[in-house]
Amino acid sequence: MRALGNSVVTLCLSLLSFGHIQAKPDLKWWQTTIVYQIYPRSFKDSDGDGVGDLKGIISKLDHFVYLGVQAIWLSPFYKSPNKDFGYDISNHTDVDPLFGDLDDVTELIEECHKRDIKVIIDFVPNHTSDLHPWFQASIKKQEPYTDFYVWTDGKTGPDGARTKPNNWLGVFGGEVWKWNDERKQFYYHAFVEEQPDLNYRNPKVVDEMNKVIDFWMKMGVDGIRVDAITNLIETEDIFQDEPRSYKPGVPPFQYEYLDHIYTSNLPEIRGAIRGWRNVMDKHSQKDGLERFMVVEFYDTPEKRNAYLDYGVHLPFNFDLIEPIGIRPESGGRQIRDLVDIEYANLPQNSWPNFVMGNHDRKRITKKRGARAANAFNMLLLTLKGTPTTYYGEEIGMEEIHVSFEDTQDPWGLNYGKERYEEFSRDPCRSPLQWNDGYQSGFTTANKPWLPVHPNYKTLNIQTQMASNDLSPIQLYSQLARLRQEPSFQYGDLFYSVVNDNIFSYVRQTEGQPQYLVTINFGKSKSIDDYTSSVNGREGKVIAHTGNFNEQNMKIDLSKIVLKPDQGLVLEVLSNKDEL
Ligand code: GLC
Ligand code: MG
Repeated sequence: MRALGNSVVTLCLSLLSFGHIQAKPDLKWWQTTIVYQIYPRSFKDSDGDGVGDLKGIISKLDHFVYLGVQAIWLSPFYKSPNKDFGYDISNHTDVDPLFGDLDDVTELIEECHKRDIKVIIDFVPNHTSDLHPWFQASIKKQEPYTDFYVWTDGKTGPDGARTKPNNWLGVFGGEVWKWNDERKQFYYHAFVEEQPDLNYRNPKVVDEMNKVIDFWMKMGVDGIRVDAITNLIETEDIFQDEPRSYKPGVPPFQYEYLDHIYTSNLPEIRGAIRGWRNVMDKHSQKDGLERFMVVEFYDTPEKRNAYLDYGVHLPFNFDLIEPIGIRPESGGRQIRDLVDIEYANLPQNSWPNFVMGNHDRKRITKKRGARAANAFNMLLLTLKGTPTTYYGEEIGMEEIHVSFEDTQDPWGLNYGKERYEEFSRDPCRSPLQWNDGYQSGFTTANKPWLPVHPNYKTLNIQTQMASNDLSPIQLYSQLARLRQEPSFQYGDLFYSVVNDNIFSYVRQTEGQPQYLVTINFGKSKSIDDYTSSVNGREGKVIAHTGNFNEQNMKIDLSKIVLKPDQGLVLEVLSNKDEL
């Protein structure tokens, strides 16, 4: 009787001290999952032609179950001449034979859904392939396609010859106006010349692209990643030069040489996004499942967050990549500052997100070395907000070296032998390393489209899964599970010790354990006292980046010792527990 009375008192006290227990917020699926980016060419080849394909992906879905990933984003698998590896689409509603067919997509979606995995596809609205039937008809001025693209007579030069209308530059560098001899006009291409830009000032284009989204929603996809949103619309009066940016060290050929006031982030883009959102919402209304939209946008947080008002759920946050991004020398304080750009600028009721790499940018291990893989996965997966993982990050994959002669990426090739390595995206697109067997289990072909990294014998999924020592993939899967805890899923985040080496933060929500995440991103050993920011003096090790021998050991929070690239997740043992 006495004992019971005591526990009631304790219960009342703890209710009082916690105030009201916060109810779990109504989180959507895209807020609770990790998004995993698959670059289909490089994920898994099923038919031995050296290029990954849909059947390959289907055969590997249990990888995501092991990882604890509940959403995959697939870069393009549509019909394409592959001048920009699938981002030049010649049929938006069919699959390229390299990757399979529509039945494979249906099977992929079904198999994903069976495993509670959502499927996000790439939507490429800005341009098509020059071999798309729309462009071919547009060249011939066949209605309704005559004005489907951005055509112009250009200017008349002194000798009567036609010249381009302005000084605009391509995203991959160089010319954006291409003369077409048959139509006797120039067309605009923000990317390679085989990627003519669609004309979004033509309502028929808007309609057709809305139909593309509708098609894929009917196929059962759960969301879209919108490609190159910033380039969607150009100014109406194209006879205007863009001003110089005066960015230091940028040659006249390079995109950054100009300020893109007439070609980038125009307000008309918002209407197009609203239209796509409406199409998607019609499907959501039928089954109550939210259709997700994330947009690719490299710019300031103010500009990217403006898209939230028009139906975008997440504008990719690339602050960890550029313009400053994680650098070889970034220590704890600098990484905190990069993270804080997102948190400090996020509008009320919006959801944060973080990305460390993708198929267009250098891998994190290229900047920080293979041994930093665990530290950065720990960061990505314990911050508040939706993380996006680029395939291979879960095992700390490294970039391959590709000679200029073997380079395939048009962006790299555009810059010639001297500078191609700055821009080429081949090195970050090498085949995923599955095991220590032939071609790392990616393909049976003797020449995959890009070579497998020579370190595959030791660095591969199978070896890491079987390893007795903690491996990157094991840590990844631990952290993915930990993210499901309320404190990590939706709890608050506040910074704890931050210095040249250490970035640390506390994750907590009422009635749940308090966690401390601390990572040494610096160059030297650090010994720090965290006790002023947590509710206890001791912490229990929940996850670590390796080199910590004792699992479940308790650590004195007043003097945690971390070497470079080491990190810890600790459950703070409240002062009360210690009594
Ligand atoms: C986006 C894609 C990139 C592609 C470009 C043109 O930036 O991520 O891979 O080359 O758009 O479609
Ligand atoms: Mg294949």
